[in-house]
Amino acid sequence: MRTHFCGLVDEALIGQTVTLCGWVNKARVQSHQAFVDLRDHEGIVQVLIESDQPELFKAAGELGHEDCVRVTGTVRARYAANDKIRSGKVEIVPTAIDVLNKAEPLPFHAHENAGEDVRLKYRYLDLRRPEMQQMMRTRIRLVQALRRWLDARGFQDIETPILTKATPEGARDFLVPARMHPGEFYALPQSPQLFKQILMVAGFDRYYQIARCFRDEALRADRQLEFTQLDMEFAWVGERDVQDATESMIREVFREVMDVELGEFPRMTYAEAMRRYGSDKPDLRIAMEFTDIADLVKTCGFKVFTDWANHEDGRVIALRAPGGAALSRKQIDDLGAHAAKYGAKGVAWMKIDDAAKGRDGINSPIAKFLDDATLAAIVQATGAQSGDAIFFGAASYKTASDFMGAVRLKLGRDLDLVDAGWKPLWVTDFPMFEWDDEAQRYVALHHPFTAPAVDDEADLRANAKTAVSRGYDMVLNGNEIGGGSIRIHRSSMQSAVFELLGIGKDEAELKFGFLLDALRYGAPPHGGIAFGIDRIAALMAGTESIRDVIAFPKTTTAQCLMTGAPSPIPDAQLAEVHVQVRPAQAAS
Ligand code: AMO
Ligand code: AMP
Repeated sequence: MRTHFCGLVDEALIGQTVTLCGWVNKARVQSHQAFVDLRDHEGIVQVLIESDQPELFKAAGELGHEDCVRVTGTVRARYAANDKIRSGKVEIVPTAIDVLNKAEPLPFHAHENAGEDVRLKYRYLDLRRPEMQQMMRTRIRLVQALRRWLDARGFQDIETPILTKATPEGARDFLVPARMHPGEFYALPQSPQLFKQILMVAGFDRYYQIARCFRDEALRADRQLEFTQLDMEFAWVGERDVQDATESMIREVFREVMDVELGEFPRMTYAEAMRRYGSDKPDLRIAMEFTDIADLVKTCGFKVFTDWANHEDGRVIALRAPGGAALSRKQIDDLGAHAAKYGAKGVAWMKIDDAAKGRDGINSPIAKFLDDATLAAIVQATGAQSGDAIFFGAASYKTASDFMGAVRLKLGRDLDLVDAGWKPLWVTDFPMFEWDDEAQRYVALHHPFTAPAVDDEADLRANAKTAVSRGYDMVLNGNEIGGGSIRIHRSSMQSAVFELLGIGKDEAELKFGFLLDALRYGAPPHGGIAFGIDRIAALMAGTESIRDVIAFPKTTTAQCLMTGAPSPIPDAQLAEVHVQVRPAQAAS
């Protein structure tokens, strides 16, 4: 049908006859000439039709946006070159223009900033746009580079079931009714976690899979109901083996796809990350760090501070914002409103207009509660200079860390303090368990198959509250791009962890009996990790939303606007799978 791609026609082809296929990107008809920009997946080329070819000139005049056409013509040098595109020095003088399929008037044009709803409804038009093509191609190159790395090192690509049993990764399951087993359901996998562990028991050392995972959870810019992991598992390893191998893989793919050198990844414990940045995925492109000031304000006159400074589980954080004195009242209010979403009751602040003037140089609604010595000590501890601001958070350790972590990120953006470039790191030594107040029991911070740092069950039981796990996350520019752990490989330890998580013997047997069995028959020590392909692709493509690197994503209201999924099912079809729909209850 064609001899060349539009976007790749260049000077080397001058004088030759080519046949091109593509969409009409733009058609401009003047009195004696018509210019048609023809676009395919490689780019654009200009077709020039002179009025001395009346038939072609007329055809050109009738072309509309996004018509599919085939053009045969001669390549010649262009009068006014366009240096921005590969085909910019040439144009096509046609001998034939065939309209292969006329397009109806479009719901939106490529150059328009159409709303996301319209773009998602007509996703095929949206994806035609060069920006979208570029972003999707970045994802494709990422996956190709990952596969090359894995295949060269003997990792084995093995598929695991999509119709399976619930795997607890902390989200709700998607359920599929089992027609042949009335009243029973398959669950879509939240991850291949248990299968990959069992593959280690089965002797497939070094597994990988580009795996689709399904989680019925609230959607955000970095979360979809179905998303893609690079899932990996290794037998006979400790955490450094997994980390060193996968760190070098990520370094290599960034080199290949982005021409970026990530260097060696720093390592930080969870405790240190929370203490310095209030986040388990700190964005190290922002230099700002917390200063703990509980010791300075234990007896000050501001009750919010003294309450938490003297509380066993309290924390009082000061955060120096370089240049923050220039923030407007509205910006400070917005910061407070943002922090409130993370549990803040307030965010006190202090502008240091002139550091040399002591109290008189400070503008703050809480200065009146603090004596001169305390004010000076706070300024000194944070290292604040004239022109800076200091923000304060007082609450329980977790809440203060969380909301001040959010304040730090927002300040980084508001004050333009986010460095360019790439800042990866490993976060390690996560707590094994988190206490869930609502459920009144421990929940696993990673997942229930993560090994504790201690090898002994009695030791774990005695120190559950402070137990540290062998889990690790890979973080890049404030995004958790991968998470994994060394697994429990002894059945007795797995049973002990289930018990601590409030999963009784019978329930454990019912849900995970197959795993407990497998661990009994010679399970090697093993561990692994899973990377969020969508998140890495979004970072590489320079977009905030993973929707931009997923061909057919769902909206934040969990719908596919193009197909209309989800949709009601006729009663007859429901009856076949033994399902009866109850009237909708109020959404939770
Ligand atoms: P985890 O739940 O941390 O671990 O997931 C691994 C990585 O997958 C990405 N990710 C997501 N991406 C898009 N949308 C989502 N809803 C979503 N949820 C997670 C993140 C995350 O780091 N089985 C374990 C891995 C292991 O232990 O080996 C697991 O699934 O980038
Ligand atoms: P108030 O006395 O409640 O008006 O608070 C005085 C200042 O302290 C305001 O700027 C509040 O935003 C701030 N504030 C209130 N609660 C907290 C808190 N838990 N941590 C930090 N600042 C707070």
